[in-house]
Amino acid sequence: MLEVLRDVLHLTGAKEGCNNGNCGACSVILDGRLVNSCLVLGAELEGKSLETIEGIAEPDQLHPIQDAFLENAALQCGICTPGFIMAAKALLDQNPHPTEHEIRYWLAGNLCRCTGYDKIVRAVQDAGA
Ligand code: FES
Ligand code: FES
Repeated sequence: MLEVLRDVLHLTGAKEGCNNGNCGACSVILDGRLVNSCLVLGAELEGKSLETIEGIAEPDQLHPIQDAFLENAALQCGICTPGFIMAAKALLDQNPHPTEHEIRYWLAGNLCRCTGYDKIVRAVQDAGA
């Protein structure tokens, strides 16, 4: 699916970090469930609803999670950021007020080599507040 998104549909927000399910940079929401798009066959998209980072902002307004990431400086190089934001959205969609422990547990499948995670966790807490 990641190749379909990036190479066919030119939706390049989902990133290819590892291509084996370990980094979460390719995270998208498929039928309401957070998935690593590098582990899903493109054909499995048929008939399903897919949310990607490209679709979560309004035309004139960032999504609140995107705002919270900016306000908390929760990104540096940014390659992990779309995946973290989609993972955070999947969490907040089902649990609007998660604890710090719940956020850290939920985001364990997303890796960031730059930030040290604290600012990301704070951003998700703020977006849920
Ligand atoms: S690129 Fe899919 S999990 Fe790393
Ligand atoms: S901001 Fe660089 S990997 Fe997360």
